Amino acid sequence: MKITLNSPLDMHLHLRDGDMLKLTAPLSADFAGAVIMPNLVPPVTTPAAMQAYDARIAAALDGADFTRYMTLFFTPLGEKELIAAKEAPGFFGFKLYPAGITTNSEGGVSDMAQADKTLRLMEEMGIPLLVHGESHGFVMDREQEFLAVYRHLATKYPKLKLSMEHITTAEAVRLLDEFPNICATVTLQHLIITLDDVAGGALRPHLFCKPIAKRPEDRDALLRAALEGHPRLMFGSDSAPHPRCKKEACGCAAGVFTGPVALPKLAEIFAAHGALENLQAFVSGNACQWYGLQPVQKTVTLEDTPMSVPASYRSYGEQVVPMYAGESIGWSIVR
Ligand code: NCD
Ligand code: ZN
Repeated sequence: MKITLNSPLDMHLHLRDGDMLKLTAPLSADFAGAVIMPNLVPPVTTPAAMQAYDARIAAALDGADFTRYMTLFFTPLGEKELIAAKEAPGFFGFKLYPAGITTNSEGGVSDMAQADKTLRLMEEMGIPLLVHGESHGFVMDREQEFLAVYRHLATKYPKLKLSMEHITTAEAVRLLDEFPNICATVTLQHLIITLDDVAGGALRPHLFCKPIAKRPEDRDALLRAALEGHPRLMFGSDSAPHPRCKKEACGCAAGVFTGPVALPKLAEIFAAHGALENLQAFVSGNACQWYGLQPVQKTVTLEDTPMSVPASYRSYGEQVVPMYAGESIGWSIVR
């Protein structure tokens, strides 16, 4: 079996910086493009920093045709600053993090009321808002507790292009159905694993991420929505590489590195459920429709020939361990 995808997009990607960027950027370059997350140290908060980061990504891609949809780390801004952001080449939208909720998010928002004026302006100006939606509550309840904030935003700013990033619960899928003015991304791992895979047996640090994987019924609801081709659910890998020594450590960093396995594994899952015809929408069409994107023309053919996933990827003195390290996946990219 084979499938050819047109211009697949990863709507949520961490590439990091420096040597790690040089290692990871080419490993996502089978996609036609990606929404690039701004949680560097320090975070990307200005158009100048964003364009400089984009140039470093372009250099790391070494000529690969890959559109960077760049984001700025949300901070309360006025109209002049928003105009400057909107006019900056490559700018896609803002990523809002509750302060301290995940990797490098200390400078995030601690009181949503402070975001009010900026969000009103973003709504008027058609600037997308991508949100890491977790409260500071009990780890399994964080996303569900945050859904009230999404509800509030979707009601108060009905025209705001609002995305619930990396949803992990059946409850979030229901909210997506309830509010036609919200979209969502979902990762590869949250279509596959539950908390049991992370911590039910021996602890598996390479499957540890924020938001943490939830219950079987949550995973099943996410998978069902993806397979059915839910028109406002998009693939966003949240591929989040950390050096091996930071993952296999006391105080394991959150993030699953899925960039190199995402497309083959998605094809395997959709094929296994007889839903290959909906994969194009999930990995490109829905995002293009929702955001009005016109990505570069690029096709990727996948076939049901196994891919051996390396135990780790190493270069430039960095080492990262991907999901399915040392294992085999049922599908692979035709080179
Ligand atoms: C991400 C990272 O490492 O940057 N980690 C994660 O567990 N997903 C940040 C994020 O998206 O929460
Ligand atoms: Zn992320």
